[in-house]
Amino acid sequence: MTAPAETADAITFDRVEKRFPGARGPARPVVLDFNLVCAAGETTALVGPSGCGKTTLLNLAAGLLTPDKGTITIGPRAINGPGPDRGVVFQHYALFPWLSVRRNCEFGLAMVRTERRRRRELVERYLAMVGLAPFAEALPKALSGGMKQRCALARALVVGPRALLLDEPFGALDAITRRHLQRELMAILARERKTVLLITHDLDEAILLAHRVLVLHGPPVRVARDIAIPYPFPRNPELRDTPAFAATRAELWRELDHAAPS
Ligand SMILES: Nc1ncnc2c1ncn2[C@@H]1O[C@H](COP(=O)(O)OP(=O)(O)OP(=O)(O)O)[C@@H](O)[C@H]1O
Ligand SMILES: [Mg+2]
Repeated sequence: MTAPAETADAITFDRVEKRFPGARGPARPVVLDFNLVCAAGETTALVGPSGCGKTTLLNLAAGLLTPDKGTITIGPRAINGPGPDRGVVFQHYALFPWLSVRRNCEFGLAMVRTERRRRRELVERYLAMVGLAPFAEALPKALSGGMKQRCALARALVVGPRALLLDEPFGALDAITRRHLQRELMAILARERKTVLLITHDLDEAILLAHRVLVLHGPPVRVARDIAIPYPFPRNPELRDTPAFAATRAELWRELDHAAPS
């Protein structure tokens, strides 16, 4: 079986602006003259107070929102809508409740022209990768939260995207399940190079999984701090207990404490 495309592409925000209508009064900019390059094959974690504009940035990269000004590109291509080059996972299991795990996963492939047998193979492969092969015929309602997120991850991966856009993917999970899935995601990213945008409120998750952590303030959203995380991959979760990790965590907290919630 040939592997899906496993190359990664940088995601670039170039002078991006996005305004939303205010409750009353003029539209207010949530993103204003925003520039960012998320390096190819790296994980960039976005942390910041609620409402600062993290999801807006991710939705712009996903093509679910259109910028009012500026451009967003993945590799050489401008983003003009959702596409199979970007897999998206949301915080709240965006699965179709009437479709089985297998069909939910296959749904991602509807966007790309794939022959039926190949489609089956790919779905099997990714369901196995996230440990859901025995539940392929189950409906989402029969799954735990962690299993639903595994399914969402498999669905995002099955098309062989160059980028993964993850909006608090493990935010709704208990601490134990979250740790398991963090480990699994790390293992998957070690095998398949992707450019990852990871929104999280969990600083340990950001430091453990990312090459770079951005602390965002806003709106309008801006990068208040840009911290490179130098540990080589794969990373041992026990890194959390080291003084260097604790120092990075404290540094991020200091920056977050400066950000007034909107
Ligand atoms: N569709 C919309 N219409 C109007 N305002 C919006 C819309 N989407 C987002 N906003 C506003 O834009 C700002 C940023 O929202 P966004 O969802 O990007 O924040 P966030 O950083 O993801 O927050 P959280 O951590 O709570 O998820 C907020 O003030 C929000 O009210
Ligand atoms: Mg959000």
